[in-house]
Amino acid sequence: MAGPADTILRLDCSPKGRDANSSRFADEVAAKLSVLEPGAWQVYRDLAATPPSFIDHGFTRDMNLFPVATVASATKTLRESEKLIGEVESARRILIATPMHNYTVPAVLKAWIDQVVRIGRTFESTPVGKVGLLPDRPVHIVVSAGGRIVGDRARQPDFLTPYLTAVFATIGLRDLTFYYLEGASRDEDTRTAAFRAARAQLTLLS
Ligand SMILES: Cc1cc2nc3c(=O)[nH]c(=O)nc-3n(C[C@H](O)[C@H](O)[C@H](O)COP(=O)(O)O)c2cc1C
Repeated sequence: MAGPADTILRLDCSPKGRDANSSRFADEVAAKLSVLEPGAWQVYRDLAATPPSFIDHGFTRDMNLFPVATVASATKTLRESEKLIGEVESARRILIATPMHNYTVPAVLKAWIDQVVRIGRTFESTPVGKVGLLPDRPVHIVVSAGGRIVGDRARQPDFLTPYLTAVFATIGLRDLTFYYLEGASRDEDTRTAAFRAARAQLTLLS
């Protein structure tokens, strides 16, 4: 079992598996992270192949029971949530490879978020708003989209970037870096250009 923060947690979210553009570029990010974090071993989850459960009635009931830690480990309804949160807690860095689906995250990533962003456990609600309970750590997010989603040439809304920024900040993770692969599913030239642009972002990682 991993000690505190000695892994790189990788989450792949595309239904295309290892053929996905997001996963292919995430391999390049992972190679760089393994140099930056020698000794960290990778915990890999293919969320599309094995999606997290949707939260159910028992989850919504038991997440409000106290004391949180004792109950969560003993309560079947929160066991999956505890496991996924534990993987975040053990990670020095988190690497997410995701396509954009309908302007935002794919449903499998949203299901993972609903398991991990849990009141009383990874954030608390206070009179001044939600306060994250996890120590910050770098989160690297590879986003693959069929069209342009950032900059002046975008012709569609991007709810993915502001959503992930807000929801990770809720649990205390603010050190986010996005790598965009725009138009990577089109012709070969566009795909090559998309990877080249993302690699230019990756050279800044240190
Ligand atoms: C259900 C679905 C919804 C999609 N929605 C969008 C979208 O809102 N904007 C966009 O630019 N591309 C959209 N796409 C295209 C994918 O984001 C694009 O093909 C991407 O490169 C796939 O990345 P991947 O190879 O990592 O799976 C969508 C694709 C699917 C299957």
